[in-house]
Amino acid sequence: MRLRYLAIGHAQRGTPTREPTHDIAPMREPMSNAADFPLAGRCALVTGGARRLGEAIVRRLHAGGASVAVHHRSSGDEADNLISELNATRSGSAAAFACDLLEVAALPALIADVVARFGRLDILVNNASSFMPTPVGTITAEQFDDLVGTNLRAPLFLSQAAAPELRRTRGLILNLADIHGMRPLRAHPVYSAAKAGLIMLTKSLARELGPDVRVNAIAPGPVLWPEGGLDPALQDEIVAKTALKRTGSPDDIARTAFFFAADAPYVTGQVLAVDGGRGI
Ligand SMILES: NC(=O)c1ccc[n+]([C@@H]2O[C@H](COP(=O)([O-])OP(=O)(O)OC[C@H]3O[C@@H](n4cnc5c(N)ncnc54)[C@H](OP(=O)(O)O)[C@@H]3O)[C@@H](O)[C@H]2O)c1
Repeated sequence: MRLRYLAIGHAQRGTPTREPTHDIAPMREPMSNAADFPLAGRCALVTGGARRLGEAIVRRLHAGGASVAVHHRSSGDEADNLISELNATRSGSAAAFACDLLEVAALPALIADVVARFGRLDILVNNASSFMPTPVGTITAEQFDDLVGTNLRAPLFLSQAAAPELRRTRGLILNLADIHGMRPLRAHPVYSAAKAGLIMLTKSLARELGPDVRVNAIAPGPVLWPEGGLDPALQDEIVAKTALKRTGSPDDIARTAFFFAADAPYVTGQVLAVDGGRGI
């Protein structure tokens, strides 16, 4: 059973010019209202983008003017409904892409399909994730492969496949980590280790892919409870450990993603906890 989340604990092709990274207005496409749509002309791929936090990120980036590639595995209906809604507001601005991220050989094709559809890729959001408890003594190789496969291996191989295009567009990789990549979540050693690996991957890729590509991560705290439900008493306990005494909303994460995408041209290799102060 998958559990989420025990927070205990236009396409317009063109050769980008190389300009200083401190330019205040990074958008180069002529815009009638660039302030309202800072991501116009950009394309974002959000893995696991059909539901929950991924959907919120898709909506925010799209509202900022980006075209969006909504990746999904099982949630094809949700992805189709979402892109229909977004295309109704801007025709041709959203498309859905199915792929099991555990199939590592399929990952370059996912990137290629997105670039073929939109003509470019500027923002890769590695959001998709599996999540399950793995108490020591019960851990199976299958669980390990699933948790590390979605939370670390797929982000790495998607990033590698996307790197040439992201260099060309001077783009962004944004990884959805977890505060438990920094402080382990009880009974979740494999998930916690995979997210810790994702945090190191973020910093490492920031070095490897600079100066053309920025690479950052968001580390959410308690935002959406596990889909299977969570004991209300435990929810209260978790919330009590936050400085802000409440859970976050999906849009808290999405707004942070938008910040990295639209307003942080000199920020790379960073991990921003969006956790209501849980990690203090
Ligand atoms: N929710 C929180 O409060 C919280 C807290 C800390 C960190 N995070 C992190 O934030 C991100 C989003 O959280 P979330 O709760 O919204 O995630 P989620 O609902 O648990 O998972 C997001 C999506 O991942 C996709 N996915 C899982 N395994 C896959 C596979 N093998 N191949 C392709 N797609 C796969 C699923 O897509 P389909 O539905 O299409 O199958 C799923 O909808 C995750 O990286 C998570 O670790 C979330």
